[in-house]
Amino acid sequence: MRKFLTVVAFMVITVALFSGYSNYGIPQIEPAPPPVEEKLDLGSMTMDQFVALGGRLFEGKGTCTLCHNSLGRAPMLDQIGANAQERLDDPRYEGAAKDVEGYLIESLVEPSAFVVAGFGKAGSNDTESPMPSTSGGGIALSEPELAAVIAFLQDNGGLEITVEIPTDIGSETEEPDAAGSGEPRPAMTSFQELSDEFACEACHTIGEEAGDLGPNLSTIGASRDRDYIRRALLAPNADLAEGFDPDMMPADLGEQLYAGELELMVDYLSKLK
Ligand code: HEC
Ligand code: HEC
Repeated sequence: MRKFLTVVAFMVITVALFSGYSNYGIPQIEPAPPPVEEKLDLGSMTMDQFVALGGRLFEGKGTCTLCHNSLGRAPMLDQIGANAQERLDDPRYEGAAKDVEGYLIESLVEPSAFVVAGFGKAGSNDTESPMPSTSGGGIALSEPELAAVIAFLQDNGGLEITVEIPTDIGSETEEPDAAGSGEPRPAMTSFQELSDEFACEACHTIGEEAGDLGPNLSTIGASRDRDYIRRALLAPNADLAEGFDPDMMPADLGEQLYAGELELMVDYLSKLK
């Protein structure tokens, strides 16, 4: 009996060690939670639901929390209530906004219209914002989506909500359903598509698009091999590029990308010389 128990204990430990190894030792690449396009009926939405939609866009499609987080790379937006009027009264303010709502819209659509002191692109003396326009480029929020994000920003910043729920263009707004319905998303087949989806160019310069929160990747293949690049994508904090801080680069790409997509990115980047 004793011997039997020893054998069982041995087996349990072996299995535990092995599953521990495969959980932590081998990067797991799982398909992203399936984003299901859901038609929104804005016409029947309450303001609370519209604000909640804005909150989901803020964390999801808008990629706002990549930068607007507690790491201090961008102003904290829960204080926008107090800050927005100050920006408008700033002698440096030369934008077109007349009120707080206008300032918020301008901040999202044309970030360089006014750059918060100390947050400009390196060397631009606060004349150029590192924030990409969220109405174009890779983020491309539609007009109703921008309105929802502004409602969220106003609510979250303790301001009166002044935007209205658009009623006429409701069916154009689509939102990934966080819960999903089990349908896997189709795999993306080009680097550009992947880069747009994951906002790589919000932080990195890759060819023409210029982001400067992360290292310039335009010639990354000249100095880094495929293994290094793959590790940089799966475990960004493992080898930190010199002069950059940890925890900036999204850490969950390994869960978001299909294996083929990961290799496509590694391939593309390793050929940039
Ligand atoms: C790549 C990083 C980045 C992303 C992504 C980003 N921002 Fe910003 N944002 C900044 C930085 C840096 C500033 C400060 C410089 C400036 O004034 O433009 C800023 C400024 C702002 C301001 C003005 C803040 C103030 O105190 O006056 C607002 C409002 C804003 N962002 C909203 C958003 C929203 C909403 C999103 C998502 C839809 C977003 N940002 C995405 C980096 C980013
Ligand atoms: C919010 C900003 C941000 C986003 C979005 C982002 N990165 Fe990064 N990335 C960084 C920062 C900061 C570093 C440097 C620190 C580090 O090595 O983790 C980095 C490092 C890297 C490196 C290693 C560079 C080197 O020379 O060591 C690669 C490769 C890379 N990122 C690729 C990507 C790709 C591809 C995407 C899109 C799927 C992406 N990044 C999205 C900020 C970002």
